[in-house]
Amino acid sequence: MQNVRFSVYQVGVFDNYINTTNMEDEKMKSEIIRLKKEKNAVILGHYYQRDEIQDVSDYIGDSLALAQKAQQCDNDIIVFCGVHFMAETAKILNPSRKVLLPDITASCSLAESCKGEDFARFKAQYPDHMVISYVNCSAEIKAMSDLICTSGNAEQLVRSLPEDQKIIFAPDKNLGGYINSITGRNMVLWDGVCMVHDAMKAETVIKLKIENPDAAVIAHPECNGALLQVADFVGSTKAMLNFIEKSNYKKFIVATETGILYEMKKNNPEKEFITVTAKEGCNCADCSYMKQNTLEKLYNCLLDETPEIVMDAAIIERAKLPIIKMLDLSKKLGIIK
Ligand code: 13P
Ligand code: SF4
Repeated sequence: MQNVRFSVYQVGVFDNYINTTNMEDEKMKSEIIRLKKEKNAVILGHYYQRDEIQDVSDYIGDSLALAQKAQQCDNDIIVFCGVHFMAETAKILNPSRKVLLPDITASCSLAESCKGEDFARFKAQYPDHMVISYVNCSAEIKAMSDLICTSGNAEQLVRSLPEDQKIIFAPDKNLGGYINSITGRNMVLWDGVCMVHDAMKAETVIKLKIENPDAAVIAHPECNGALLQVADFVGSTKAMLNFIEKSNYKKFIVATETGILYEMKKNNPEKEFITVTAKEGCNCADCSYMKQNTLEKLYNCLLDETPEIVMDAAIIERAKLPIIKMLDLSKKLGIIK
């Protein structure tokens, strides 16, 4: 079958170019599935991706599960539907595969907040500290770290270290502050935040809770400390999904990125979910970086096998060490299999 090209920039139908506005999503999805088989590709999708991208993903997961999946893939091509640091992590863990990211400019406010030179200067101030970096950072920062964590394992990894171990935690001060508060540690924090979670306010949650007293408040640890204090449950995307499934509550006030609601609703059609936004009626609980990937970009990326994650071999080797350490420790602690 001849490949068609979907492009948001094309107007009208000529040669093999077809305007996306004329194409049904379903048609595009079946083309993606066909190309995926033809090219022996696998699509890994984060829970924050658009619903239609989640529909065509072979695996949907949080950053920890997807990193592990990427490591185990034996497909020729890994299409990572997430943001840049996630695709980079996939490449680091499985460098012989071609790793594609539908929109190569899909970044993350946390990764953006922590640049190599600045972090090297920061780190130099604490020569006797080990560095734990949240996976939401560039490969350059990972290469300067001793251990990587995700929101799904940060607490257990920190708890597994000797109590007198001095630690720098980067780049999320909210996640780091939360871990400090529950473990009694005093990790030195880099001053970065997730622009989506940090913008959600405790007052909004309190107002929603007053209006819905029968709802449980669940929050991602990237939210600010004031909000986390009014939450009934704090956990990573996967932990939130597990909590909802086991909970007797029928209603949930969800303080995290909206993409996850697709999976929450799919798994719990009888339960009700209320989103928390920074301002009333805004779509600021959508991560604009995560939503940069679209079905059209995914199709074109599979078709052209670009944009590709290309990395320096030395960075891959150095950045791999703390990621492998995280995966090994997570297995040892029983967090992952
Ligand atoms: P997790 O997938 O680890 O829950 O992280 C959420 C996030 O913000 C990813 O960018
Ligand atoms: Fe980064 Fe926040 Fe978007 Fe996740 S939700 S990719 S942490 S900006």
